[in-house]
Amino acid sequence: MSKSALITGVTGQDGAYLAQLLLDKGYKVYGFVARRSSDTSWRLRELGIQGDIEFLEGDLADASSVQRAILTAKPDEVYNLGAQSFVATSWNQPITTGVVDGLGVTHVLEAIRQFSPETRFYQASTSEMFGLIQAEMQDESTPFYPRSPYGVAKLYGHWITVNYRESFNMHASSGILFNHESPLRGIEFVTRKVTDAVARIKLGKQKELRLGNIDAKRDWGFAGDYVEAMWLMLQQDQPDDFVVATGVTTSVRDMLKIAFEHVELNYEDFLVIDPEFFRPAEVDILLGNPAKARNKLGWEPKTSLKELITMMVEADLKRVGKE
Ligand code: NAP
Ligand code: GDD
Repeated sequence: MSKSALITGVTGQDGAYLAQLLLDKGYKVYGFVARRSSDTSWRLRELGIQGDIEFLEGDLADASSVQRAILTAKPDEVYNLGAQSFVATSWNQPITTGVVDGLGVTHVLEAIRQFSPETRFYQASTSEMFGLIQAEMQDESTPFYPRSPYGVAKLYGHWITVNYRESFNMHASSGILFNHESPLRGIEFVTRKVTDAVARIKLGKQKELRLGNIDAKRDWGFAGDYVEAMWLMLQQDQPDDFVVATGVTTSVRDMLKIAFEHVELNYEDFLVIDPEFFRPAEVDILLGNPAKARNKLGWEPKTSLKELITMMVEADLKRVGKE
């Protein structure tokens, strides 16, 4: 019998790659989607899998819709990827971020506990919870110190996952994922903002690129590699928490260099530092230690930052070229 999975946030970057991975493995995939006034399924269309998913309408802020989805699907696995995921927006919408990214997790856990207790649960936790880092390299035992309403909300989501595992013996795991990017990354995030701008500048459609703090450093990996770690976590006998990262950190400045050099341009000729893109509180540096994921899950990142950025610039050159 093939397995079934319900993915919240299926229209997002990770949701799309995870749905593709699970479909390839023969899963029946349910997508929990919030109603929007315009179509948000461009990623699923780009991967050619939109028609293979059964969509269930709902919103993580609406517990009744979450319950209905769990009762309808009774899935073997739930991947809770839905979130207000843009850190900068979390200062403008702190309450929505708290409700969706924090309490929304409880809505899913509670629906599973009441209506489908055998369902395994994955929570999309984040390196943003480390914030003002308390150790040079962050792992599962590093204390958290979130620096944004997003990080604070996600910390609640992380701990409620641990709490339901310990209180009700649920198979609930939390993946503490460091930044991961792809050609399907939202345009507001810095890597994709850069690769889209590189393509536009190269093709004569844009003159400058406005950014904020380019001294920030991130541990960037490829989303396609990271969704495999999510799946592996739910295949373990015991639920647990895992850091998923590459173990390499790079500044936004050096990532910019890689992207512009790919099309033989110098980023300094186009970069404008704009105060609008600085944040009220910054996460200066993130660097993850994926040793536990390597040892227990057998997971390894397969894509270097240079390969990732090259893949993204090439995809954006194609997209912009077609406009
Ligand atoms: P993303 O591209 O922004 O996707 C977010 C998804 O959540 C979208 O499908 C969005 O739907 C959905 N969503 C937003 N609000 C919702 C609501 N109220 N109810 C139901 N669904 C809602 O994010 P991502 O990069 O794929 O990340 C996936 C998850 O991993 C998120 O929880 C994120 O916080 C977390 N995470 C991401 C990273 C990373 O580097 N990418 C690292 C660590 C953790 P619409 O398309 O309709 O808006
Ligand atoms: N987005 C953006 N836009 N970021 C900029 C810009 C800009 O113009 N200029 C500089 N940056 C800096 C940000 O200040 C931050 O330090 C860094 O680039 C990365 O920003 P984002 O790409 O927006 O990602 P993030 O690290 O804030 O958050 C992402 O990773 C988290 C995991 O650590 C998101 O995917 C979160 O959802 C995820 O949890």
